[in-house]
Amino acid sequence: MTKDSNELGINTRLAHSGNNPRDYFGFVNPPVVHASTVLYPNAATMAGRGQKYTYGTRGTPTTDALASAIDGLEGSAGTIIVPSGLAAVTVPLLAFLSAGDHVLIVDSVYHPTRNFADTMLKRLGVDVEYYDPHAGAGIAALIKSNTRVVFTESPASNTFEVQDIPAIARAAHAAGAIVMMDNTWATPLYFRPLDHGVDISIHAATKYPAGHSDVLLGTVSANKACWKQLCETFYTMGCCAGPDDVYQVLRGLRTMGVRLDQHQRSALDIAGWLEGQPGVARVLHPALPSHPDHDLWKRDFCGSSGIFSIVLKGGGQKQQHAFLDALEIFGLGYSWGGYESLAVPVFLGDRVVAKGPYEGPLVRLQIGLEDVDDLKADLARGLAAAAG
Ligand SMILES: Cc1ncc(COP(=O)(O)O)c(C=O)c1O
Repeated sequence: MTKDSNELGINTRLAHSGNNPRDYFGFVNPPVVHASTVLYPNAATMAGRGQKYTYGTRGTPTTDALASAIDGLEGSAGTIIVPSGLAAVTVPLLAFLSAGDHVLIVDSVYHPTRNFADTMLKRLGVDVEYYDPHAGAGIAALIKSNTRVVFTESPASNTFEVQDIPAIARAAHAAGAIVMMDNTWATPLYFRPLDHGVDISIHAATKYPAGHSDVLLGTVSANKACWKQLCETFYTMGCCAGPDDVYQVLRGLRTMGVRLDQHQRSALDIAGWLEGQPGVARVLHPALPSHPDHDLWKRDFCGSSGIFSIVLKGGGQKQQHAFLDALEIFGLGYSWGGYESLAVPVFLGDRVVAKGPYEGPLVRLQIGLEDVDDLKADLARGLAAAAG
């Protein structure tokens, strides 16, 4: 049995996956290879590209180490590593969509994904349509003869609806379309998209894999059928990531299991506590039994991460801003998955289907690794300010 075998526990695998220390004189970590040029021993090898590494954009021992670790976690045939989570969304969409194709995108998608679809995909002649995150098997009614891709994200950005991914995958495949999933929330530790019928699994590795709010990176993992086309597009576009960032994410993976475990426990504790606070109408966290999609989440996911939203009881932007401005430990800033707690106002004005209604303004919370009692006290300050 190898040290990254699927039969081992997840933290053992995270500690040992990717590189083999014996390949580099026993050093535990792989080298950070800064490279454009790779030398060839002779012209014939060069002409036939007859060696493993050929040019910096096409992979190095550093990118291979991370890609191989991610393949192990995802159960994928291959993984590309790109410079941001947003690039991990746009590159596969460009790889599989052409002028005249139709794409179905979940309405509760990460906003920049929508922006990419509404601007670049439309300009390239792709017919973009948004669907209800609760469509499930009903997605079949929206699939057209030219539907090439069904894009999913579950749980949803900001509102955390859970999608019935296996049902969507069955309907899409029956019609000859492929399924992509932005799985950043769960990481492959808590949901393995390819096991549920997804063809392409997308991650903003910027979040939990990097874990320290200092690196941008994306990974895209494909099953065997989609790998060649994904990889060819990646080479064609030349959108490779810098070696230091790739290395940092591999380093982050080593501790991702223990960090996620802590994020999960703290977020659940705080989410449950918030449900009992005056001033909170609802907590949108799929691992809470009160969440409308809890049963679906429980069926498919094996854990929850540290980000969820609250709906304030009544009020509008004034109360939302009062809540945010009163916070002293939670920072006001975008992104999540790092060690520090963050809060952002939620804007749903771009949605066409999944718009609510909600009882008041929404605030998204990323629960970091601070002590839970301190975070609760901070949130109580926010709620008092919103009520005042
Ligand atoms: C669900 C989701 N996907 C993708 C991204 C994009 O990641 P990045 O910030 O690395 O571009 C984000 C960032 O917030 C996200 O929340």
